[in-house]
Order: sequence, then structure tokens, then C-alpha cells
Amino acid sequence: MADEVTRRNTLKTAGIGALGIAAAGMTGAWGGEASPGGAGTQAPYEQAPLPYRYDALEPVLSEEILKIHHGRHHAAYVAGLNDTLERLKRARAEDDYAEIRALSRDLAFHGSGHILHALYWDSMTPGGTEGPTGELAEMVEAGFGSVEACKAQFAAATKAVEANGWGVLAFEPVGRRLVILQIENHQNLTIWGVAPLLVCDAWEHAYYLQYKNRRGDYVDAFMEIIDWEGARQRCLAAMR
Ligand SMILES: [Fe+2]
Repeated sequence: MADEVTRRNTLKTAGIGALGIAAAGMTGAWGGEASPGGAGTQAPYEQAPLPYRYDALEPVLSEEILKIHHGRHHAAYVAGLNDTLERLKRARAEDDYAEIRALSRDLAFHGSGHILHALYWDSMTPGGTEGPTGELAEMVEAGFGSVEACKAQFAAATKAVEANGWGVLAFEPVGRRLVILQIENHQNLTIWGVAPLLVCDAWEHAYYLQYKNRRGDYVDAFMEIIDWEGARQRCLAAMR
């Protein structure tokens, strides 16, 4: 695990960034491991370790929350995704697609759950960073009028997600602009083709142990530990 953290930090220091890896050859997750090619030989998805210590985001997010969230919830989506892929493989081998509707739904749910969580960890950094800056700031001002308006809309959207879901700032490649989305569960209410730049988990498991039912307080605290530099790098990669 230590080697993996070192590798990720080295990449970030080199200015490559997690999405730089994805842009070079779409990995299974932000900062995840690439699967080898070949028909039917792709390796299972792997969960990357946190890019910081479990207690690194305190007092905003406790060590206990991060351990459970990363070690159990996120891990369960990775396991669910791999299990779904195995069941699909079996269906192909047996030419039995009786469960294809449920399998397709599970693939979208667990796959989106894994990818959003991978990006969630990279959306935060201890103490946060100033921003948005550079090209991302220009995109934000063009799309939302001001940085403050963008932040206010992002926070409001995340706080108002119905039941479980996410707030997402994304680059929309057809209109080449930024959009803020509410995602329900992990896979509903998106726009096809968008590249998520910044995500905030609004599922209760992300905050309840510490904030109880005060989701708004959690989102306000999240806004203070955003890694805007990471979001800028992801935006640059998505705009290429
Ligand atoms: Fe979560």
C-alpha cells in the first residue's frame, strides 16, 4: 500500500495527475490500475488506496468515517462490479441472458459507484486548495457568472439530492462547457458523455456518523477541503 501511495504522489508531483493517467488510456478508476488488453482477459477492477491517511481530512471528516466509507462501502462497489462482470461472463459462456436486465442495472450501479468514489477521494485534499484557478476558473466564470455562483449552485444541488446521490461538477464535451448535476443513487440523472471533475458524496454513509442528519453542514465543510488543482487538471484532460 505504501508503494502505491508513493506512486500516486510521484505522479501528482510530476504534474501528471490522476486524470492524466486516465486520459492517456482510461484506467478502471481515477488513479487505478490499467487492465491488460486481449479478448476476455481483462483483470478485475482494483480499489486504489486513499491518496492520504485516514485521519488526514479531520476535523471535516473523521478517521472512522473514512475507514468505513473507503474500506467497506467503496470496496463493496468494487466487489459488486467484479461480481457482475463475472456473472455476465458466465451468461455469455452459457448463452443464457435471462438475467440481462438485472445484470445491466447492477453493472451501471456498481460501476458508477466505484468510479464516483474513486473521484470523490481525489476531489478532496487535506486543508483544501485555493481555487478554481487558471483555465478552470475561466470556464467557471463563463458558465456560472462567478466562482461564488458556481460554488453556491454546487453546494445547493448536493444538499438537495433526493435520498442518496451525488453533487457533480462536470465538463460537457458537446457544448464544451461546465454543468452541475445531481446524481441519484450512482447512475441516474446524468448527461451522457460528461467528464466529472469534482464530486461530493451525499449518501448518508458519507457523513451520518459525524454530522447526523445535518447534510448541509457536511456539504459546507466539504467545500473547504476541495482539491481545485486536481479538478483543473481533470478539466484540462477532458478538454483535449
Ligand atoms: Fe459513498
